[in-house]
Amino acid sequence: MTAAPPLIAFAHVGKSFDGGRVRAVDDVSIEVAEGEFLAIVGGSGSGKTTLLRLANRLIDADSGRITVEGEDVRAVDPVQLRRRIGYVFQSGGLFSHISVAGNIGITPKLQGTPAAEIASRVDQLLDLVRLDRTLYRDRFPHELSGGQRQRVGVARALAARPRIVLMDEPFGALDPLTRDALGDDYRALHSKLGLTTVMITHDMTEAILLADRIAVMRAGRLLAQGTLTELSDSDDAYVGELLRTPRRQAERLNVLLPRDGAA
Ligand SMILES: Nc1ncnc2c1ncn2[C@@H]1O[C@H](COP(=O)(O)OP(=O)(O)OP(=O)(O)O)[C@@H](O)[C@H]1O
Ligand SMILES: [Mg+2]
Repeated sequence: MTAAPPLIAFAHVGKSFDGGRVRAVDDVSIEVAEGEFLAIVGGSGSGKTTLLRLANRLIDADSGRITVEGEDVRAVDPVQLRRRIGYVFQSGGLFSHISVAGNIGITPKLQGTPAAEIASRVDQLLDLVRLDRTLYRDRFPHELSGGQRQRVGVARALAARPRIVLMDEPFGALDPLTRDALGDDYRALHSKLGLTTVMITHDMTEAILLADRIAVMRAGRLLAQGTLTELSDSDDAYVGELLRTPRRQAERLNVLLPRDGAA
């Protein structure tokens, strides 16, 4: 029996900016299987956002090939492609002149989903991201905190029931408790809905807790990819350092925190 084809595949993908001076993504090959949760970890400017934007053709690659659901993305209408893929923008990316409900329901509306169905889906999604329906559905983005805007961004990405969700630092601006809860909630949803998720994060601990596999980027290159065990075998010094950080933090916290629960 042959293995199922990957849902997203990058093969030797390259993307430069500024006339070739910045190699944002440099010969990256990675495959994401159906149902998988992949985290992309790496420092600022390592090419994470660029890689994600290439997958739904917000930008086009200079070299290599990207396929989504078996199709070369260059052969697909970019608008259609983006409607099939949920995308959570690093900056929230909400439409400022549209209400929370309007933002969340925008793709189903473009797809011709009946208004009543959109309204009930918006309410379910607001529950999911823990925003009170009555308080928030009619607000505008400028009336929300940064973390609330990010939650609306997650809800919007899920509204058209995509099979694939790409998330660019979705929980970055949240307080630690909400971040933890929303991360867990999202992971449960990923499994329940059979989603395929690629999530960018700066935070190796978050990647370890949420993802099935982790890809590490630096200066546009993919340094390593795999499960935690596979990454532990990497002889790359940067990958080793990234992996040691959560354990070091946990050990320091173990020393500092009082033994029995709350202080
Ligand atoms: N549209 C653009 N024009 C010129 N350079 C760009 C453009 N987009 C990205 N870059 C450059 O490409 C490199 C990778 O950027 P990218 O946004 O992918 O990094 P990142 O890993 O997402 O960083 P961060 O963690 O800070 O979000 C950076 O050097 C950045 O300045
Ligand atoms: Mg980025």
